Amino acid sequence: MTSEHKDSAVLRFLPKYLYAVISSLFLFTIGVFSGRHRYLIFRIAEHFGMKTPQARQSIPTIPLTSVLDSKLDITLLEPLGDPGNVTLLELMVISFLARRARPQAVFEIGTFDGRTALNLAANLGPEGKVYTLDLPSAALDATKFPLAVGERSFVAKASSGAKFVNTPHAAKITQLYCDSATFDFSAYENRMGLVFVDGSHTREYLQQDSQTALHLAADGAVILWHDYQQDWPGVIAGLNELYETNPAFSALRKIEGTTLVMLQRENYRR
Ligand SMILES: C[S@@+](CC[C@H](N)C(=O)[O-])C[C@H]1O[C@@H](n2cnc3c(N)ncnc32)[C@H](O)[C@@H]1O
Repeated sequence: MTSEHKDSAVLRFLPKYLYAVISSLFLFTIGVFSGRHRYLIFRIAEHFGMKTPQARQSIPTIPLTSVLDSKLDITLLEPLGDPGNVTLLELMVISFLARRARPQAVFEIGTFDGRTALNLAANLGPEGKVYTLDLPSAALDATKFPLAVGERSFVAKASSGAKFVNTPHAAKITQLYCDSATFDFSAYENRMGLVFVDGSHTREYLQQDSQTALHLAADGAVILWHDYQQDWPGVIAGLNELYETNPAFSALRKIEGTTLVMLQRENYRR
């Protein structure tokens, strides 16, 4: 490398280095109050070799090929996700299951920016309806159970469902606002062809929302849970316990390559 090249490499590196140093001061002080920043701090600790105990996952994994069928076309909207969204593969699986069943109605717990609700709506038939429930940000400190560390930033947002508002699919989507532990679900019970559980990630909420999902599901429905992964020990512990102790959840299966867990309604008894 010539000295000119070295000089220009240093000049390119230096501003980024200084920007990162100054940002780090923010990250490790005021920044720790944001879930997104805490997530980055966990990743830095892991990068430098810190090991965190891995939670045991007792739910068996099924191959992706047993869920997806390459002959079925799906619609994928907003493919580039943001932090808090499902992965692209997970979005494909969710959209595929909605397209395959084309149920009249679908229920989602946890709207966030509306990316999954949008794709559910886009893959239903013209009469299909998506009901999506979100905790209002004003209720952040008034939930029935405490929320998990790192999920407050998903609740505290300017609006829910920004990714489907003003799209042609918005007419199929009904937004509901309440704590999932206190919402009155009676008008929606036994009617949903697909239920997607992606609200709070604590063990208490996971278990309460899972019981709710059973009640919402119609015969033949699919229930999906998101975030059965090490970042969310409450989801792992809650789903493991349901799988191991409650016959209604003995057919839970993790879908290969994703953090999704699936249950087919006909495979369980209430
Ligand atoms: C990870 S985000 C959902 C992501 C979304 N399904 C997607 O990928 O497009 C979790 C959502 O659950 C909501 N939430 C958290 N606790 C809740 C509760 N107790 N009741 C209802 N919604 C809750 C948050 O406000 C947030 O919008």
